[in-house]
Amino acid sequence: MNPFNKFNKWFNLAKETFEFDPTAFALSSSSNNKPDVRMVLLKKILPDGYIFFTNINSNKGKQFNKNNNLAMCFYWESLKKQIRISGRGLIIDDKESDLYFSSRPRKSQLGAWASKQSSVIKNRKVLINRFQKYEKKFENNQVTRPPYWIGIKIVPRTFEFWQGDQFRLHERELYYLRKKVWQKKILSP
Ligand SMILES: Cc1cc2nc3c(=O)[nH]c(=O)nc-3n(C[C@H](O)[C@H](O)[C@H](O)COP(=O)(O)O)c2cc1C
Repeated sequence: MNPFNKFNKWFNLAKETFEFDPTAFALSSSSNNKPDVRMVLLKKILPDGYIFFTNINSNKGKQFNKNNNLAMCFYWESLKKQIRISGRGLIIDDKESDLYFSSRPRKSQLGAWASKQSSVIKNRKVLINRFQKYEKKFENNQVTRPPYWIGIKIVPRTFEFWQGDQFRLHERELYYLRKKVWQKKILSP
């Protein structure tokens, strides 16, 4: 099976049965050989990649600007399924980011303006004040997308599908590309 189809099959199962948010995944980035990881949300599935949104001025954004190799890891406890993907990130077109941003609730849009993601602030009041500042600024107007709030598409190079089983006899399938054709190998758990 093509790993993108397998991803969709597992993701749909997770949507049906998972008790929390199946779109949440750990996103790993690195620069200067220092790995970093945090949770983000999968917002769009394309035939050739997976899109999440973030502030490009954040720590992850700065790391990404130096090194566009990214990795994703989903775990759906109710299914005992893990999916790992590694690939490269590409910034999506501004128009696509605009479209997604415009679909967000107004207060989340204002929150994107208010937060200088990953920067140090003196206290929470600073953030609330900035939120109110943008509330006023956009009063009676549509909230436009901050130029730094962007979508990144991860184009996979490898997928690993892990299915938990009894006695640590888990199943692991690794998919990788050889001459643009997906190959599959079984890994020991
Ligand atoms: C479940 C969950 C989902 C999150 N989704 C996003 C997201 O989609 N985009 C984002 O920028 N941060 C998201 N965050 C916040 C990030 O984990 C992180 O705190 C933030 O992006 C700053 O990370 P950085 O300093 O490594 O750039 C989410 C956090 C959690 C716990």
